[in-house]
Amino acid sequence: MIIYLVGFMGCGKSTLGKKLATLMKVPFYDLDSIVEHQTEMSVSEIFSTFGESGFRDIESACLKNLSTETNVVISCGGGTPCYGDNMDYMNNNGMTVYIKIPDDIIASRLFHSENKRPLLPYQSREILKEHVSKMMLTREVFYNRARLIVEGINLNPNDLLQFINMRISR
Ligand code: S3P
Repeated sequence: MIIYLVGFMGCGKSTLGKKLATLMKVPFYDLDSIVEHQTEMSVSEIFSTFGESGFRDIESACLKNLSTETNVVISCGGGTPCYGDNMDYMNNNGMTVYIKIPDDIIASRLFHSENKRPLLPYQSREILKEHVSKMMLTREVFYNRARLIVEGINLNPNDLLQFINMRISR
């Protein structure tokens, strides 16, 4: 079973994903890192060279290349589920899990993060927060299509694994 972690930038997909994979003793893949490895460019460089649509094409191709894997945890980019047929693809191919975190906490984490995402404005915390809330409105429609939705605040990998197992056996 492939487990796909989805959710907004800064919701903790990669951190949780790594821990979950360790707990399950399966490989972990971070989709952004795979995109960077394949292109030998950083996400920011891809955005500035090929634009967002170029990035989305590469991201989707990398996501689908991972389908040969069987038991793995994949943390997606925040936009992965929101473009093309990616969400349908993931729902048909494995267990999608939406890590849900309130907008203000996301904005605060992103504002302080060293990883500056190309899609976000960093002029001030307020501007960033407004932008996050606006993006969330359109994106959550896709995230909410995940087969499992979990509250991400204080979520530990043991509980996450239990939720996933409960969802699978339902
Ligand atoms: C994006 C999220 C980023 C990365 C890119 C675009 C998005 O990944 O794929 O900057 O559109 O939400 P993270 O969610 O891992 O930050």
